[in-house]
Amino acid sequence: MNKLRDFDPADFKRTVWQKKPGVFRQVLPQLEEPLTPDELAGLALEPGVDSRVIWCNRGQWQLAHGPFEDYGKLGDSHWTLLVQAVNEHYPPARQLLSFFDWLPDWRIDDLMVSFATPKGGVGPHVDQYDVFIIQGEGRRQWQIGEPGNLETMTPHPELKQVKGFTPMIDVVLEPGDMIYIPAGFPHDGVSIEPSLSYSVGFRAPSQAELLSALADKALDKELLNTRFRDTDASLQAQNSQPSWYLPEAAVNEFQRMLQEAVADSALMHRLCAQFLSQNPRPPLQFWPEKPFTHEQLPAFLTEHDAFLTAPGLRWLTTEHCNEDEALTLYVQGQAFACDTEVEALLGVFKSVESVSSARILQAVQTSSKAAKLVIWLLNEGYLVVEDDAEDEEEA
Ligand code: SIN
Ligand code: CO
Repeated sequence: MNKLRDFDPADFKRTVWQKKPGVFRQVLPQLEEPLTPDELAGLALEPGVDSRVIWCNRGQWQLAHGPFEDYGKLGDSHWTLLVQAVNEHYPPARQLLSFFDWLPDWRIDDLMVSFATPKGGVGPHVDQYDVFIIQGEGRRQWQIGEPGNLETMTPHPELKQVKGFTPMIDVVLEPGDMIYIPAGFPHDGVSIEPSLSYSVGFRAPSQAELLSALADKALDKELLNTRFRDTDASLQAQNSQPSWYLPEAAVNEFQRMLQEAVADSALMHRLCAQFLSQNPRPPLQFWPEKPFTHEQLPAFLTEHDAFLTAPGLRWLTTEHCNEDEALTLYVQGQAFACDTEVEALLGVFKSVESVSSARILQAVQTSSKAAKLVIWLLNEGYLVVEDDAEDEEEA
């Protein structure tokens, strides 16, 4: 188990989490940095990797999206390179997330890594995420203010910043230090020297995001089909009004319909599990030439040594999604019935990068539920032969 030094997760959850920002010195004193600035820069050259360079030249903010060809023109200061979802593109970096396994997986958004030159940063801003920022090499100054109605500005169409917050925290982070910033707290990080920062973001979905996800799923599955029907009140309200008037009684009926939709707990549970088990950045899929059948599975597994699961897969298990209230596994929005074998296999998929085919074979021979899961993973291209994945990377 990876642990942050002198850091008590239970105490943190009680006193700091989503309440106030915090500074934690030397929680990772011997941080083995998963990547160097050069490796980060290399990742941002690859297509499919979400990266940005942000620079500020005499007060003019600029932003460019990767993949980049080179960084030659950027100079020695005032710029930063940010790469999203490094945990998905560069598996060794995943280990950093394990320091936060006292928070549920479904909350994790991604590991964003930034490299900044002296005076580089993204400017003062507010995030919609709860974030831990671990300082890698170099030092960075961080200022954090109180949430509130701050004036916003858009110095570049893709950069939303805030004006003039009063810092309640003003610190210089050294390698191995960490800050925590809850969603909504304005902050500004400016590099003092070339530095690396590791940001572990935790999502806190808003009402609008939840409603939108609920609507997407319901439309997809043809659920929540009840349509508006006039009530006596909405019909009568129209009588004394011109045709372009929207009566309150009609709005009341819309509100009641929405309340009825979200009041269905079993449906909400299922839709939330689907939403939370889906990575908004879809994992890369390596589809097989032909779909596998149950009969082909043992021979195929025996032919190979080991398999890899797609790094961006989101797994969660939950109860109450079906009538018998048994445990259900969700992965990328897809539901699978669980048994002890499926749960054990999930534990293996989550803990090791490369899973031996013997282990998978044992699971599929013991449980038809595990076999169903494995066939789906293979046919969706989420479970791949280790050698094939490596060949693909080299190609
Ligand atoms: C950064 O690493 O430069 C940005 C982190 C943040 O402020 O959210
Ligand atoms: Co931020």
